[in-house]
Amino acid sequence: MYKKLSILNQNSKSLCLIKKIGLPLSLHQQHVEILKINNKKSSLELTIKKENNEKILSFDPHWLRFNCQSIKSRQVSTGQRIIPVDEVPDNLIIDLIEKENENLKIKWNSESKQPESVLPLEYLINNYSSNMDIEERFKPCKDLKFFNFNELVDTNGKRNEEKIYEWLEHLVLYGLAIVKNLPTENNMVKKLAELIAPVQNTIYDQLFDVKVDKNPINIAYSNAPLEFHMDLMYYESAPGIQFLHCLKFDHEINGGESLFTDSFVIAENFGREHPQLFDTLVQIPATFQKIHIDRTRPVYMVYQRPHIVLNHRKNIMAINWAPAFEGPLSNLSQAEIKAYYKAYLAFSKAINSSSKILEYKLQPGDVACFNNRRILHARNGFVQNNGVRHFQGCYLNIDEFKSEALVKEFEIKYSKMGKNVNHVKLNLRNTVVGNNDYF
Ligand SMILES: [Fe+2]
Repeated sequence: MYKKLSILNQNSKSLCLIKKIGLPLSLHQQHVEILKINNKKSSLELTIKKENNEKILSFDPHWLRFNCQSIKSRQVSTGQRIIPVDEVPDNLIIDLIEKENENLKIKWNSESKQPESVLPLEYLINNYSSNMDIEERFKPCKDLKFFNFNELVDTNGKRNEEKIYEWLEHLVLYGLAIVKNLPTENNMVKKLAELIAPVQNTIYDQLFDVKVDKNPINIAYSNAPLEFHMDLMYYESAPGIQFLHCLKFDHEINGGESLFTDSFVIAENFGREHPQLFDTLVQIPATFQKIHIDRTRPVYMVYQRPHIVLNHRKNIMAINWAPAFEGPLSNLSQAEIKAYYKAYLAFSKAINSSSKILEYKLQPGDVACFNNRRILHARNGFVQNNGVRHFQGCYLNIDEFKSEALVKEFEIKYSKMGKNVNHVKLNLRNTVVGNNDYF
């Protein structure tokens, strides 16, 4: 099909070149053509054409060496890298590049004593790293989206994988969904969560009941209003996805609606409007704590972290917010404490005056599913009038949740095509879910 394949070397000017012959690859369901492969010795350059735009991708030699996919560099059964790091020299020079089928073979300079590296073109293009390549890291949560439990699993317990993927995808991208028609029975919320992954155990156990208690171990177990917050911010690994299943919500109760708002949208707007206050909340750690000895399982957890966490590109990668669980600031000067409270009050105002607060009164059988590391939740106070409001909840670990979503995306979109999981670019991978991932 192609007239020429290339042994490419910088010493020959004509080498590149597959120009106009074209190497079409189906990448990420888009047509990509490789126009030129160029050995620059201290880098590899690929000229590609994607959606009618030509682009040069430049690869660092160490990146190429450490991403080698040959069996000399990867254990076949696990895919784990087996390159002895200490044996890779500082100075790596590309001697020769050959194209064989859809792979590039790279021969290194003899002094480096490195075996030939092999990288599929698809791998190179889909894993190319640039500081410009992530345009939209999440989609603003503006509406409630409803899913039907009976469509996720049929009456015989058979899973509808496509529908489950749709639910997971929505939760990754937007952070909030309501599942309707879950039978109002004890433990059903755990069964729903386990469609995705095993539930996360916490100091509230695997399952917790949210209903009025005379001696509550948490303010949520009363009829008091709850301000916007995230749960269990005093954990390093605060829960990821939270499920709240409404088992009972009697008509005589006044109030008790659930409220949700998107902390990522609020923080981004806050950063644009108040850059200095924003920086303060990035730099100064707050204290989150749960100190409660007088309970069946005594707890003493204190954890300091800033309210807003940025990655190396100054993109938001986590928000931490739980006013009812904040303790005394510590290891800070008085000037820092003053600056902190000024920024803290302003950010709290921004949360509570958000133009996108979604209010919903859960009905029996409804489950609010939301990303606890992104979507702030709150509750209006309520008057019981002898009625019962009973929710049952559980959590999933955020990393396991994202992993399941990615596995499902791969299975639904690529595995039937026989694609290698390391070669494809998954849509959900570059979506921020609040787990402090620097991507
Ligand atoms: Fe909560």
